[in-house]
Amino acid sequence: MTLKKNILITGGAGFIGSHLVRLFVNKYPNYQIINMDVLTYAGNLENLKDIEDKENYTFIKCDICDIEKVKKVFLDYKIDSVIHLAAESHVDRSIEDPFSFAQTNVMGTLSLLQAAKEYWDTDFTNKLFYHVSTDEVYGSLGQEGFFTEETAYDPHSPYSASKASSDHFVRAFADTYGMPTVISNCSNNYGSYQFPEKLIPLFINNIINNKPLPVYGKGENVRDWLFVNDHVRAIDVIFHDGKLGETYNIGGFNEWKNIDLIKLLIRVVDKHLGRVRGTSEKLITFVADRAGHDVRYAIDATKLKDELGWEPSLQFEEGIDETVKWYLNHTDWLQNITSGAYTKYYEDMYNL
Ligand code: NAD
Ligand code: TYD
Repeated sequence: MTLKKNILITGGAGFIGSHLVRLFVNKYPNYQIINMDVLTYAGNLENLKDIEDKENYTFIKCDICDIEKVKKVFLDYKIDSVIHLAAESHVDRSIEDPFSFAQTNVMGTLSLLQAAKEYWDTDFTNKLFYHVSTDEVYGSLGQEGFFTEETAYDPHSPYSASKASSDHFVRAFADTYGMPTVISNCSNNYGSYQFPEKLIPLFINNIINNKPLPVYGKGENVRDWLFVNDHVRAIDVIFHDGKLGETYNIGGFNEWKNIDLIKLLIRVVDKHLGRVRGTSEKLITFVADRAGHDVRYAIDATKLKDELGWEPSLQFEEGIDETVKWYLNHTDWLQNITSGAYTKYYEDMYNL
């Protein structure tokens, strides 16, 4: 039996957070999971319907920037560990509104760190502040090479700049106050419950609805894709066995040029919809490139494999097939979240 813990997971109603909450609530019945989320457009309690009545689960609607409320949650629930995922997470939105990214990602992280420091005082026994970050802090690669844990930070978008800043604050709290911390930097995730503003769910949704597929630039940018369940398995391993003060890169050695990935998606969605192979390729629409568009991301996850034995469980084609089937079987979920405010975002963003 694992040690009892009261774990604050922030951003648990979002894409990755909901997978993590589900994993921890089901796998560790003697952990109390407190999910703190303010429920922005990206947060959706529907994502957690299957576990919301479990005894070891509590949801608290709270802005991580509201430091007095955050402090009270630490006190009321005797929080001994934090896994921090709450963030503004979409690059395109950060280009339109960098301030909200600085507010949530930087000030929100700082307010959690400060609340943890004050509540834990100087007794850090069995305490942990785990910060979930992104490979985008490392900037952009050329044709060769990988991001390792030693790669210098070089963020380009307001999103990655705010995540880089939050990582620095976490390290500053470790170095200055002795806070027990760990950070992981993961590559692009895909899977169920991802908000359809990110490439994969957006394009699945558009293929289903015969809408144009807005490919930025020439579609030659490269991303390194990891199934979300593999990401949360890695978080589980790092949370339990990671060394304090360390950083772990998470990735599946799975690089795809956007246009190749899009053609794969089209093939898989068309197959499941019973359309003739390639039918939806006509939806591909090249549009103006994203400002400051990072050319290539690629993670070297050797440290995580060698030190903690984590490896991805799925081949990409399998993961994509499973993901496409999930969205096709959850068109209600897609319809619910793509109504209202989302429609306005989409029209303003793409003009298509
Ligand atoms: P998401 O946008 O799907 O979810 C973010 C969640 O945070 C939402 O539930 C939202 O309501 C909540 N939130 C936002 N602002 C908040 C605030 N002020 N107070 C409380 N809650 C707030 O994001 P995601 O894709 O699940 O990403 C989760 C984390 O993982 C982020 O920190 C992100 O930087 C990191 N990450 C994401 C990816 C990816 O591919 N999606 C890859 C690597 C790292
Ligand atoms: P995205 O899912 O936004 O993740 P990130 O920018 O954090 O890597 O985008 C993945 C890639 O797909 C990225 O190179 C931008 C590109 N892209 C498009 O070509 N069109 C789109 O409409 C979107 C949302 C992304």
